[in-house]
Amino acid sequence: MELNGKTALVTGGGRGIGQGIAMALARAGADVMIADLDADIAKETATEVEKLGRRSGAFEVDVSDPASVKQLIDNIVAHAGQLDIAVNNAGILNIRSVAELSSDDWDRVMTVNAKGVFLCSQAELAVMRPRGFGRIINVSSIAGKVGFPDLSHYSASKFAVIGFTNAIAKEVATEGVTVNALCPGIVGTGMWRGEEGLAGRWRQEGETEADSWERHQKTLLPQGEAQTPEDMGQLAVYLAAAEHVTGQAIAVDGGFSL
Ligand code: NAI
Repeated sequence: MELNGKTALVTGGGRGIGQGIAMALARAGADVMIADLDADIAKETATEVEKLGRRSGAFEVDVSDPASVKQLIDNIVAHAGQLDIAVNNAGILNIRSVAELSSDDWDRVMTVNAKGVFLCSQAELAVMRPRGFGRIINVSSIAGKVGFPDLSHYSASKFAVIGFTNAIAKEVATEGVTVNALCPGIVGTGMWRGEEGLAGRWRQEGETEADSWERHQKTLLPQGEAQTPEDMGQLAVYLAAAEHVTGQAIAVDGGFSL
C-alpha cells in the first residue's frame, strides 16, 4: 500500500489508537497532520511522524465545536496544501448505567463522538469533493455494532457514526471520495486500562485491574487477546488506499462482532 504524496489528518492523534493510525499512515508514505484537544501530545506525535521523514504539523482542535473544526481544516489546507485522507478518531468514553446517566453525560458523549464526526466529515468533504479524491475513515467501535451495559450513550454515539458514515458514503460515491467506519475491538489505551478505565470499573470482587483486563480479553474476544493501535493502523492504511470499498463498518476485533 503506497500513500506517497498523500496528506492525511488524524483527529485525536496525540495518543492511543489515533497515534497508532498516524504512524501507520506515515510508514505507508503519507504526510500526516495531527489534531488533538491536547496540543502538547499532538506535537509529540507530529515529531514522531517527522522522524520517519514525512511532513507533519500539530493542531489544537475541539471536534465538538463547529468553529474550531472549520479553523482546523482551513489551517491544514494552508499548511499542507491539500487534504486527501482524514481519520476522524477523536472520542471520549463515559461509564454510567442507564439509571445513573444524566442529560449532560448523554449530550457530552453524543456531541464529541457523533456530532464531532459529522462536523469533521462535512468540513473535510468540502475540501475533498472539488478535487475529486478523498478518503474519510470514521472511528466507531464494536460498541457501534453491539450494545454494552454501562455504555448505552457511548454505544448510541458509535451506532450513529456507522449510520452517518453509510449515508454520506452514498451521497459522494460517484465523486472519488470513499467514507468508511473502522470499529476497534478492545485496545489497551486509557479507555480500558487503569482504575478509571473499563477494566478498572468492571472488576469482579477480589480482582485486580490487571486480572480484569485479562478476563475481558479471554471472555469477550474469540481470539482471546486484545488488539493494538498498530492493528487499527493496518486497516486505516488499507482503507486509505482502497478505491471500491465504501460505506462499510469494518471491525478489527478478533472475531467478536459481525
Ligand atoms: P484515548 O482516550 O487514548 O485517545 C483519544 C484522543 O482523542 C486523545 O488524544 C484526546 O485528547 C482526544 N480527544 C478527546 N476529545 C477530543 C475533542 N473534543 N477534540 C479533539 N480531540 C479530542 O482513546 P483511544 O482508546 O485511543 O480511542 C480512540 C478512538 O477509538 C475513540 O473514538 C474511541 O471511542 C475508539 N475506540 C476505542 C476502543 C478501545 O478499546 N480503546 C475500542 C473501540 C473504539
